[in-house]
Amino acid sequence: MISEPANATLRKNIHVSDSAAKAAVAIARKISNAIKQHQLIGKTFRLGLATGATPVPLYKELIKLYQQGDVNFKNVHTYNLDEYDEISFDNPNSYHGFMRENLFDHINIPLEQTHFPSGDDPAAYDREIASVGGLDLLILGIGSNGHIAFNEPGSEKDSPSRLIELDASTIADNKQYFPDGDMPTRAITMGLKTILDTKTLVLMAWGDSKASIIAESLSCTPSADLPASFLQDHPNTLYFLDHGSASKLS
Ligand code: GLP
Repeated sequence: MISEPANATLRKNIHVSDSAAKAAVAIARKISNAIKQHQLIGKTFRLGLATGATPVPLYKELIKLYQQGDVNFKNVHTYNLDEYDEISFDNPNSYHGFMRENLFDHINIPLEQTHFPSGDDPAAYDREIASVGGLDLLILGIGSNGHIAFNEPGSEKDSPSRLIELDASTIADNKQYFPDGDMPTRAITMGLKTILDTKTLVLMAWGDSKASIIAESLSCTPSADLPASFLQDHPNTLYFLDHGSASKLS
């Protein structure tokens, strides 16, 4: 058993659900309430988005809320965490393609209000986000090596948005999505500085395969060796886990 979360605040912010689907209902409700509050005062809601298997139940739930008329996205701007380098946006395995398939094509967000980091000038993403006052809420998954977005081990907490070489373990984890063997080995990632400047962070993890890295990221001293550990220092990180991913927390 790996040691318990570092402090009481962290513990308070850990929500363990029976399933990813149940957690997704709670997170979607939180996001839709925040969108509506911003709508009431005529403000844009700036929502950071992740890709991968982890956020899919949440996206299903947001689509459901939209279809029921419970939320609309006209005052929302989205900011994705990352994109592969030198990939066609028409490629369904690009994160542009993933987001259209899993969310954007099913809700009323104008595509010009959806933002991604660009390989041409990655740090421009940080300037763009800072110029609008930062992100309101950002959802995150966690890689098996402790990366968030594509901030691989070695990424410092003030790292900018940038082009990064993917770790061998990340390539091994994600190559299943590229059966033709054409997986890019570099990506453009939002940096840890912009991530940690976000008002509310929501880290999600499901299943036994995430149990060790979740326990380690919550109990170790924050360091670049395990980028997700920097979330411990953020005043408002909410962890949504299921019984599998929480199974190594005491
Ligand atoms: C991917 C993404 C991350 C994601 C993580 C976990 O490679 N760059 O943003 O959170 O790795 O992926 P999954 O949700 O499929 O486990």
